[in-house]
Amino acid sequence: MERIVIFDTTLRDGEQSPGATLVPDEKLEIARQLARMGVDVIEAGFPLSSPGDFEAVSRIAKEVRNASICGLAHADAAAIDQAWEALKGAADPRIHVFLSTSDIHLMHQLRKNKEEVMVQAVSMVKRARRYVSNVEFSPMDATRSDPEYVYHIVEAAIDAGATTVNIPDTVGYVMPLEFEALIRGVFERVRNIHKAVVSVHCHNDLGLAVANSLAAVRAGARQIECTINGIGERAGNCSLEEVVMALHTRKDFFSQFASQIDTTQISKISRMVSDYTGMIVQPNKAIVGANAFRHESGIHQDGVIKERTTYEIMDPRSIGLVSSELVLGKLSGRHAFRQHVAEMGYQLSEEDLGRAFLRFKELADKKKEVTDRDLEAVISDELRMSHEIYRLEQVQVSCGDHSIPTATVQLIAPDGNILSDAALGTGPVDAIYKAINRIVGVPNRLIEFSVKSVTEGIDAIGDVTIRIESEGRVYTGRGAATDIVVASAKAYMNALNKLLAAQPSYASKP
Ligand code: KIV
Ligand code: ZN
Repeated sequence: MERIVIFDTTLRDGEQSPGATLVPDEKLEIARQLARMGVDVIEAGFPLSSPGDFEAVSRIAKEVRNASICGLAHADAAAIDQAWEALKGAADPRIHVFLSTSDIHLMHQLRKNKEEVMVQAVSMVKRARRYVSNVEFSPMDATRSDPEYVYHIVEAAIDAGATTVNIPDTVGYVMPLEFEALIRGVFERVRNIHKAVVSVHCHNDLGLAVANSLAAVRAGARQIECTINGIGERAGNCSLEEVVMALHTRKDFFSQFASQIDTTQISKISRMVSDYTGMIVQPNKAIVGANAFRHESGIHQDGVIKERTTYEIMDPRSIGLVSSELVLGKLSGRHAFRQHVAEMGYQLSEEDLGRAFLRFKELADKKKEVTDRDLEAVISDELRMSHEIYRLEQVQVSCGDHSIPTATVQLIAPDGNILSDAALGTGPVDAIYKAINRIVGVPNRLIEFSVKSVTEGIDAIGDVTIRIESEGRVYTGRGAATDIVVASAKAYMNALNKLLAAQPSYASKP
């Protein structure tokens, strides 16, 4: 069996999805789960890009020991030095250096010729090698570059010390047969290719990211770069769950290849990434969509009842999809709660655990059955709230078909003061948002609002996702509560706090 190295870039390329900003605590929690499921390399961020990215990479490097931790750097001395600063606590640090190679990028973006780019790539790979023995080099936009130039620069990067060479389909342009030929070319034309692992990084603009990655494996690639739920720049990246389950389900076809991913963790991490980023998974998404294992037609249902494999190529249990069990009741104590939450894979601080426990108790009073899905929603909500600059203390609304929707809100300001205000609106949510705006006073536009229930039943937790826009940037917010009006207020506070955190006056320094 040949091992396919799974390189997860959810925390770097995935976070580049508009509005998917994550705070360092959320990134750390996702990184822990990625390592738990067996991801080989975690690209934790781009340390030079922001103080938040630097902090996240550095905390993940120190705390997540059972995976290689990678930091991205463009081919520039300051970016490489900063990547090393963030990574230096890691058990197995990797610096990922990238530089464009296509004529389009050279002419319009870098304004350099091929020789200059070659010299820069070599010198920056050498610089990264001074810090770490594990260096990856990516010729960006490789699939729109002259293949001969790609082979040359890859060869030079390996001579300079690159141990992994990654061929990115940066704009999701290539077709599977073409990509397979390009990767075969790498093996045929690059003299020293036996000294490096060949990797691929495919974007999904034409919906071909997974197909291209698998075609590359057939041509000799042994590392696949991917993200949970396929999130990422524009149409996203190769989806981890799809590519891993393709290798797993079609063992007959990919007989000599295997990843070391524990597939039973997939469903859980998919929900976690969706909860934290606010990127909702489409119902018909392969593997992790809500409908992926649902059968609607009578003939299909009849077949599955008689024999599951008639219409299911994967066992839902193989991705960890089990019906939500009743886990804890209202008499369960803090000890049982702590243990159960740890078994679910969370490592919460005492403070976060205390708050989550109180929320669980409140929930157990309102809801007959508290399931793992409910606990996930509560914990995600608590983690979100623990980073807020302004905190929602109280919300009250009055509405109905013969009244003017009116909301009163109380927020705790950064200095600890309690601020209250009220507003009228076209509906209860509008009134709440207007009342909050009167206190926080940051202009923005609501561009999306959606509500779904976490589990079935009339007493289910409502999960609200919103997107707001301010000065061309999108911020996602999420909130969970049994009362959807309260969940809407929390979602708005979550998005607003991300907007505030992005303002220079609030940003923390590394
Ligand atoms: O899409 C891309 O080319 C990238 C590189 C940084 C590898 O994300
Ligand atoms: Zn990318």
